[in-house]
Amino acid sequence: MKNAIILLTVFGAWFTSGCSNAQSVSPKSVLIVYLSRTNNTKAIAEIIQANVGGTLVALELEKPYPSDYKQTVQQVMHENETGYLPPLKTKIDSIEKYDVVFIGFPTWDMKMPPPLKSFLHDYNLRGKTVVPFNTNAGYGVGSGFQTVEKRCPDSKVLEGFSIKGGIERDGVYLNIKDEKRKEAEKEVKEWLQRIRLIK
Ligand SMILES: Cc1cc2nc3c(=O)[nH]c(=O)nc-3n(C[C@H](O)[C@H](O)[C@H](O)COP(=O)(O)O)c2cc1C
Repeated sequence: MKNAIILLTVFGAWFTSGCSNAQSVSPKSVLIVYLSRTNNTKAIAEIIQANVGGTLVALELEKPYPSDYKQTVQQVMHENETGYLPPLKTKIDSIEKYDVVFIGFPTWDMKMPPPLKSFLHDYNLRGKTVVPFNTNAGYGVGSGFQTVEKRCPDSKVLEGFSIKGGIERDGVYLNIKDEKRKEAEKEVKEWLQRIRLIK
C-alpha cells in the first residue's frame, strides 16, 4: 500500500510538471495588455501577438496624460509619491477566460507606470500566468518587473522581456521600426521560446 502511494505521488508530480511545461498555449486564452504613449511598447505587443496570437488591448485612461513630456513626468512622479491609481477607461471583458496575461509597459520614473498599477488593482490575475514586457529609453526596466511580482502574488510570473525603445525627452519617439523592429522580432521570438510559450 505504502509503495503504491509513493508511486502515485511520483507519477502525479511528473504528470503535473509535464503539463505545466507545455510548449504552446491556445491563442484564445491569451490576453496582451499594454500601455504605450509613443508606440514602442505597442510594437512589442504586436510582435508578441504575431507569435502567440491572443487579444490585444491598449490601456486608456479616463483622463489622458498631458501631451507635454515634462508635465507628464511631473504628474507621474506625484502619482508615484501619493500612490494614486488613475481610473482606466479601458474595460476588459471577462478576464476569467484568459489563462496567460502579457503585461507591457514603458519605464516611467524607473518604475511601472501608474495606469498598470490601476490595471493590476482592478483585475484579479490569481491562478494565471503573467508575462511582463517593457520598453525604456536605455536605462532599463527599473523596478517594473519586481512590481509585477509584488502585485501578482497568486500568479505564476514568467521571465520578463525588456528592450530599448524611444527617448521622448530627446525627441526620439517611435524607435522600434524598420531594422530595429526586425531585431526586436528576433529577440522577442527567442524570449518566447525560452519561456516555452512557443516552440
Ligand atoms: C513620463 C515618462 C517617464 C519616463 N521615464 C523613464 C525612465 O525613468 N527611464 C527610462 O529608461 N525611460 C523613461 N522614459 C522613456 C520611455 O520608457 C521610453 O521612451 C519607452 O520606449 C516609451 O514607450 P512607448 O513608446 O510605448 O510609450 C520615460 C517616458 C515618459 C513619457
